[in-house]
Amino acid sequence: MLAPLTRRNFFRASAVGSLGRAGGGAMPVPSPPAQQQPATDTVDHSGHAAIDMPGFVGEINHEFNGFNPTDILTDFNLGDRVSTLENGQTLREYDIIAGDKQVEVAPGILFPAWTYNGRIPGPTIRCNEGDRIRINFLNGSGHPHTMHFHGIHPANMDGVFEVIQPGQSFVYEFDAEPFGVHQYHCHVMPLAKHIAKGLYGAFIIDPKGGWPKADREFVMVMSGNDIDFDGGNDFYNVNFIPFPFDRHPIQIKVGELVRVFLINMLEFDLLNSFHLHANFFQWYPTGTSLTPSEFTDTIILGQAQRGMLEFRYKFPGKYMFHAHVTEFAELGWTGNFQVEE
Ligand code: CU
Ligand code: CU
Repeated sequence: MLAPLTRRNFFRASAVGSLGRAGGGAMPVPSPPAQQQPATDTVDHSGHAAIDMPGFVGEINHEFNGFNPTDILTDFNLGDRVSTLENGQTLREYDIIAGDKQVEVAPGILFPAWTYNGRIPGPTIRCNEGDRIRINFLNGSGHPHTMHFHGIHPANMDGVFEVIQPGQSFVYEFDAEPFGVHQYHCHVMPLAKHIAKGLYGAFIIDPKGGWPKADREFVMVMSGNDIDFDGGNDFYNVNFIPFPFDRHPIQIKVGELVRVFLINMLEFDLLNSFHLHANFFQWYPTGTSLTPSEFTDTIILGQAQRGMLEFRYKFPGKYMFHAHVTEFAELGWTGNFQVEE
């Protein structure tokens, strides 16, 4: 007899392919990945950890998904078309299509997601403070959606009351302000569902003249995966895939200034957090000031809160970063920086 599916036994179940169906939600991939190994207790109790944290056996098919959490770290969209208006203002135009899409969130498990441009999080929209932003939005999904941007703009550009029906389009246009780390997301009810299904993305407005030069800039959007649609998260992630950087560490170098644009889009749980191992970081809440508010190794974020971290590693080696809501870490929100000389 199969044990009931719980958050705790899910990965073990999926690892051996014994999971027929996860509730009424996510469906198994029709042809499971070829390389699956027997599930084992990942912790060697003799004291030698087989891997750093719990994980899953097998691999996500990122090509099937059409996006990869590692690529999303550094994929900044400065505009599909950039031009100069008569008044000298820079115009950045973006084409965004909402769609319905199956996304493999754990090996062999498909989640019926809603996406902007086929990926989760959606495109990272990046611009300078004062630029004119024009979003050509087409709703290619079978459900009504919008794009609601955080930031300052007129009411009719807020993406709340003008619900865009399937097949319809809308142009959002406004000046980018204030500078900082923001986000956009669908604002159709039920809101938590539209966000948790994948309709969100980073919106980064650089200050005039830019932030001080960093060697690396990464976008990390924290969220959850409610694969059985019970209004609770089964896994947790950065850039939508659980354990994103656990087996694919982020490569950096000793002494490099690393900047992380961190956004909490987690639904169903009130708090999320980010903890950096063996180091401290400067924290810029919402990224709206050039002066950090705190020098710390752990930051707590409520829903939609975000900001910027800056740090350098002093010594080479492998360092974890993860939610210090440790249950989230064990259920997918964990990763590593690989620091080389
Ligand atoms: Cu929506
Ligand atoms: Cu919001």
